[in-house]
Order: sequence, then C-alpha cells, then structure tokens
Amino acid sequence: MYRSNTCGELRLADAGKTVTLAGWVQKARKLGGMTFIDLRDRYGITQLVTEEDPGVGREWVIQVTGQVVERQSKNPKMPTGDIEVKIEKVNILNKAQTPPFTIEEVSDGGEDLRAKYRYLDLRRAPLQRALALRHRLAQEIRTYLDGQGFMEIETPYLIKSTPEGARDFVVPSRMNPGTFYALPQSPQTFKQLLMVAGYDRYFQIVRCFRDEDLRADRQPEFTQIDCEMSFVEQEDVLNTFEGMMRQMFKNAVGVEIANPIPRMSWYDAMDNYGSDKPDIRFGMEIHEVSELVKGCGFSVFDGSEYIGAIAAPGCAEYTRKQIDELTEWVKRPQVGAKGLVYIKFNADGTVKSSIDKFYTPEQVKAVAEAAGAKEGDLVLILCGPKRKTQTQLGVLRIEMGNRLGFRDPSVFAPLWIVDFPLLEWSEEDQRFYAMHHPFTAPKPEHEQWFYSDKKEDLERVCANAYDFVLNGTELGGGSIRIHDAQMQSRMFDVLGISKEDAEYKFGFIINAFKFGAPPHGGLAFGFDRVCALFGGQETIRDYIAFPKNNQGRDVMIDSPSKIDQVQMDELFLASTVKE
Ligand code: AMO
Repeated sequence: MYRSNTCGELRLADAGKTVTLAGWVQKARKLGGMTFIDLRDRYGITQLVTEEDPGVGREWVIQVTGQVVERQSKNPKMPTGDIEVKIEKVNILNKAQTPPFTIEEVSDGGEDLRAKYRYLDLRRAPLQRALALRHRLAQEIRTYLDGQGFMEIETPYLIKSTPEGARDFVVPSRMNPGTFYALPQSPQTFKQLLMVAGYDRYFQIVRCFRDEDLRADRQPEFTQIDCEMSFVEQEDVLNTFEGMMRQMFKNAVGVEIANPIPRMSWYDAMDNYGSDKPDIRFGMEIHEVSELVKGCGFSVFDGSEYIGAIAAPGCAEYTRKQIDELTEWVKRPQVGAKGLVYIKFNADGTVKSSIDKFYTPEQVKAVAEAAGAKEGDLVLILCGPKRKTQTQLGVLRIEMGNRLGFRDPSVFAPLWIVDFPLLEWSEEDQRFYAMHHPFTAPKPEHEQWFYSDKKEDLERVCANAYDFVLNGTELGGGSIRIHDAQMQSRMFDVLGISKEDAEYKFGFIINAFKFGAPPHGGLAFGFDRVCALFGGQETIRDYIAFPKNNQGRDVMIDSPSKIDQVQMDELFLASTVKE
C-alpha cells in the first residue's frame, strides 16, 4: 500500500498513529532547525515536520511514514491544521522541475501560462473543487433521471452537416472521397428519432460542437444534459426538469430554490427586462415612457418609435463625470445606444435632468415616477426602435446591477421563459428564421396563423418553447416538437427551405415521421453553465478539465494544427491558405 491515509484526512483524534502519506510537495521551509513540508493531494494538505532536511523541491512526489502529533501552533484555516506528521522515513517517488507558477489556492501564473500547463493548474484546489462539483452534479442528474425512468442512450458524433443555427465543425471522409461528416451541434434529430423508435424517456450527458465566436459562457465543444420525452405536453416537461433542478440544488449545494419556479412570457421578459434571460435577483425594471415624453418638441424623442427608462436606486448623487462615463459606456459598439438621457430625482424631491429645456419640472418628475424612481434615484433613458432599445436598456440594467452589487452569486433566482415567438423575421435576409429550431411546434391555438401566408400572422405565432434561466444566464431550452410530416414540411416552407433542400438535409426525419411518430418534446441544459453557476462563477472554462481559449485553441496540445501532406492527400484536401 502506497498510503494509509490521504492528505486531507488526519485530525487530532489520529494523534499517536503511525501513517504513510503520498503526494506532492507544495512547499518546504526551514524554521529554527526544523523543516516543514506541506504535502498535497486532491483531498487536502498535511504538514510534515522533520529535523533532517530531506532536500525535496516543489512538486516532487514523495511518500512519507511518520507519527501524527498535535501541532504547537495550530492553523484553524486548514482542516488538518491541528496536527502534523513527524517524518520517520521519506521515499522520493519522483523529482520535479520547478513549476512555471505557484500551485496554490491563488496562483501567480497568468492565464496563458496556466493554460499551457493545464495539468499543473488542475492540481490547484479551486480547479479540483470545480471538477468535483461537476462530478457531483453529473451523479445527481443520472440518479434523478434514472429514477424517473429515463434511459441514457448514446448518439453518433460523425453525422450530417445541416447548418441552421451555428456553423458546423466538419470532418473529411477518407473512404468517401470529397464528402464530409459534421460534428453534432446537438443530438436534436437523433433524440427525436429515438422517440419514433419508442424509447419514450431518453437522456444523455453529451458533447456538442459549435463553430461560433467564443465568450465566457461559450466553448466550441461543450456538454449538454440532453433529454426527450414522448406523450407529454409542455407542463409535463417543465415539471420533470423543475424536479431535477430542485434536487441538484438541494443535494449538490444545499440550496432550496423557489417552488414553483416562476414563469414569464418572452414578451414580458423583453418589455420589462430587455432580455430573454432576465436576472430577477433585482428589480430596476424597464418602463416605457413614450406617451409622456413625445410631442413636446424634443426632436430626438419625437422621432423615436420607443422611449424607455430604468431607475437606478440611490444614484441621484452621480457626478457629471460619472454620467459622462456612463454615456460613453452605452455608446460603445457592444451596447450601441446613440446617447443617454438622465433625470436626477433628488433626495429633496426636486428633479434635474439633461432635458430640462424641453419639459416642465412636473413633466420630468412624472417621467421619473413612471420609471419607478423614488427620491434619491437616477433615471436613465434610451430611445430608438422598440426591441433594440429594450435590449440596450437590458444591458444597461445588468451593468448598473453589477455596479450596485445586486448580483450576488450566492443567491439563485431560477425562471422559466415561455411563449416564445415561433419565428423571427430577418430584415437583412428578408426571410423567417426559427427562433428555437425548425422542429419546434407552434402553440395549438396559434396553428391557424401558422398556415396563413400573411407575415403579420406568422409573426404572431407563439411556440411551445421554453428556456430555463438562472441569474441572467440561459441554462437550458427546449420545446414540444412537430411530430407530423405535413406540419414539418409547412415549417420548411415558411423558413424558405425548398423541398429539395429539406429532403437533402432532413429527409431522414421527415420520412421517419411518416411511420408513426408519437407526440414528443424535450430540452437540453448546458451542463458547463450549470456547473459554473452552481459554483458561483460566470465563466465555464474552470469547470472543464481541458478547455479551449478565446481563439478556440488548446495551447497545451497546440491544436488546431497543420496536418502533413500525406494526410491531406488521403483526405483529398488542398489548402488555399498562403504561407
Ligand atoms: P440550445 O441550442 O438552446 O438547444 O442549447 C441548449 C443549451 O446548451 C448551452 N450552450 C452552450 N454552452 C456552452 N458553450 C456553447 N457554445 C453553448 N451553446 C449552447 C446553453 C443552452 O441553453 N437541441 C436543442 C435543445 C432542445 O430543443 O431540446 C439545443 O441544442 O446553456
């Protein structure tokens, strides 16, 4: 046996025992003729002590045998802080080069350097805690879904390219010259085929691949908790997964979440929060003030479709400089507003605004009140096209929420967004896109509009679709599907996908629907996002053992990289990239 105990295990009650530990030397220091060594494994750190310096360096792998003794100066911050092990024998299992950064709770290494030596970074406690949480959550998910009669079934990774949504990653086929597989953006069509095949409760914790621009909560390969059920309505799906979330919160982080989880229509989310994933941990809702401010001679407002406002609590004391800075902030391309109008609702009840020239103090005050402001608040107003302006206000709301400390990561506010529009019109492409995906069914009561040829009718159709939102992040989404071949063809028509194209890309599923498809629906959660949020973080990278950087690169293995000419030839590939 290499070890009798782990480095996180020994307590005062073990004093007197002779133990053997194995692990990595986090640090070794000399003090008054003694050498102290912090020995680490993934369970914790134990202090070792010896009179003879064994001459070990950082990250050497050693095995020690010795007696557990009570410490003179205890460390209450460490679970093993009451004891130390008096070394009797040291066995050096492996020496180590000096690591390029410190492997401690907080490292001195920059992000790039730690990414290059990811296996060293993974030795650090915060990353070990993150991966342990991920493991715990995966176990909870499997236990819950198994208990509900779900079967875990794997689906293929080498599939067919059907770009609708993000870009596909493609893989050339050697055996079929000139053709390509695509890596799945999700197992969507396969899980629907499993429903046709009669596996009425399916799930899979599965890797998905999307060639899209990366952000803190996006990776080119990420993991979904993918689920599908037959003979269900929206209510059944929501209840099943509310149960899963409740159990995960309770068992993995000891938190009781709202019961039932509140629901909000997509329209209310956009109108009141300027986002389809509102953070409802705080108020500061958006209020339309168009009626109050239009027609008073202020041309900027008079010429706008929509004028909306939020009231930032306690910010009436903002200085000129702070307001100028906020104005520049909303004008950045990431927000895209043309300008910012403000009203200070002073503590003494008076108002001061950047539009005092055009309105009486009573009018200005009425606007402030309509925005939900009280004495001491600062009202921020944006104008322009309706949805665009609401979205900008939504971004500003989140920014103010951050600045005011309203977004406490230890508070969890889950929410279902329901009643999404089925279709989204693109001015640029002059066509409809599926808001969710082309397999999502219209609400039964909106079907007459779905079959209408009028654009206004089609725009009114709501989908039986839903998103699970937590603290302003979309954690998951799904829908009740179309299970009728005719309705599916109609959907492709509406999306401007020709019969031939639909046949070429989706023939297999249209055909399958002709052989007895049950009514079905499901959803998928982004597992990496679930882990990060449960862990109180917004970036998912630390919850993935080997993630990619913002350029989609793995700098540890140096990928993507060139392949040699022989491989290129075998795959019938030629590069057009100039060296
Ligand atoms: P959707 O495209 O909404 O739905 O994806 C489901 C969830 O996956 C997560 N997610 C991501 N996480 C990390 N990196 C990414 N690049 C990334 N892209 C998506 C999000 C998202 O909510 N087949 C449908 C689901 C269904 O209808 O059943 C689907 O894939 O948390």
